[in-house]
Amino acid sequence: MAHLLHLDSSADLETSRSRAIGGTFVASWLAADPENTVTYRDLHRDPLPHLPDASLHWPARVRSDDANPPVAAEALQTRLIEELFAADVLLVGAPLYNYSMPSTLKAWIDYIHVPGTTAPGDLATQPMAGRPAVIITSRGGVYDAGTPTEGWDHAAPALQLILGTALGMPVTVITTSLTLAEVLPALADQAERSREELALAHEEAAASALHLGGMTRLE
Ligand SMILES: Cc1cc2nc3c(=O)[nH]c(=O)nc-3n(C[C@H](O)[C@H](O)[C@H](O)COP(=O)(O)O)c2cc1C
Repeated sequence: MAHLLHLDSSADLETSRSRAIGGTFVASWLAADPENTVTYRDLHRDPLPHLPDASLHWPARVRSDDANPPVAAEALQTRLIEELFAADVLLVGAPLYNYSMPSTLKAWIDYIHVPGTTAPGDLATQPMAGRPAVIITSRGGVYDAGTPTEGWDHAAPALQLILGTALGMPVTVITTSLTLAEVLPALADQAERSREELALAHEEAAASALHLGGMTRLE
């Protein structure tokens, strides 16, 4: 029995690939063990407010004496971090928007990345260390090594830094690229590769969920 925290952030409620691949992951997660559970957060349909006060980046014990973050925002942050700490596995749907992650997902990151609470800071704490994170990245274009756009994707690398390096989670990235091949004439000749990557991403998501969902609780 294990618990999954699943985040979606695509603004596309009809044809989103990250939502669809996430759906495949969750179906396999629940099939892996009937006692597995899921907490779902749709960061697009139910967006978090932007972090309203910089002091919330730090635990209360190291904030300056005159720090006075809004009580409601601090309570929301506590709830989001508790939700994360309750998860054995984290699944993040992360479309590429303007070479970065959607602002809705960034807002969640801004609440949960707290050095000294979720990551090393004044204390060498890393409560999520060893718990897997699976990122589903969905990109309209292509960012292959050796092409002019190599390195232009700043979404997955930033998520790997925060979840992997800072929080200590082993990160798997499932990628579907060229999602705009069916609609942009300039990419039309790569439509077959786009479909192949999509099929492979669904297979990877199903296999990953079966594996992670069949493991016993990581504690
Ligand atoms: C606001 C916005 C910005 C986008 N910026 C980029 C971009 O910088 N690079 C890219 O390859 N695709 C970009 N796209 C296309 C999306 O990455 C693509 O449609 C992807 O499939 C979205 O994920 P989804 O299918 O899960 O919704 C953008 C789409 C939107 C809506």
